[in-house]
Amino acid sequence: MQKRSGTHAVVYYSRDGHTARLARQLADKLDAEIFEIETGRYRSKLLGYVRAGFDSLTGRLPKIMPIPNLKTYASVSLGAPVWTSYPATPMRSFLAQQPNLPPVVGMFATCGGHSPPDKVFSMARALFGQPFIATLCIPSFSDEKLTRVHIAAYCNAIATASGMLEAA
Ligand SMILES: Cc1cc2nc3c(=O)[nH]c(=O)nc-3n(C[C@H](O)[C@H](O)[C@H](O)COP(=O)(O)O)c2cc1C
Repeated sequence: MQKRSGTHAVVYYSRDGHTARLARQLADKLDAEIFEIETGRYRSKLLGYVRAGFDSLTGRLPKIMPIPNLKTYASVSLGAPVWTSYPATPMRSFLAQQPNLPPVVGMFATCGGHSPPDKVFSMARALFGQPFIATLCIPSFSDEKLTRVHIAAYCNAIATASGMLEAA
C-alpha cells in the first residue's frame, strides 16, 4: 500500500474495548492509520482475565500477530491497557521485539483509575529504550470533556514534534 508522506500510525492492544476506543479517537484527530496488536490468549472472558493478571505479574509474554514495519510513519502512538500497574503484556511483547520505529513515538494507556500510570510508562520506556514524546493515561470511565482536552494536548505534542522533524 502507498502511504502519504507525514502519515501517523496508532498501534494498540485492547481486551475489553476501552483502549480501542481511545485509539480510534487519537487516530481520527491525527488522521492516522490504525493497527491492532492481536493475540488469542486473553479472549475468553474469565480465563482470559486470570491469565492477563498472572502473565502481567510473572512477565510471561504472549505470542502476537505481526505488525507491518512502521519506520516510515511521521509518528507512532502506542496504546495499551494498564494490567497490574504495567502495560498489558501484548504491548510488552510488541516492544520486546524491538520494532523499527520513527523518532517520534508517544504512548497512551487506559486504566481502571486505581493506579498511577508511572510504572506503565517507565516499563514501556525501558523496553522501548527511548523516552516518549508524549504520554496520555485515561481512566476507562472518565469525563468526556476532560478526555477531549487531554487527547487534544497529546495530539498537539505529537503533531508538533513530527512537524519539527519534517522541517529540519
Ligand atoms: C488483568 C487486569 C489487570 C488490571 N490492573 C489494573 C491496574 O493495576 N490498575 C488500574 O487502574 N486498572 C487495571 N485494570 C483495568 C484496566 O486497565 C482498564 O479496565 C482498561 O481500560 C481496560 O482496557 P481495554 O478495555 O482496552 O482492555 C486491569 C484490568 C485487567 C484485565
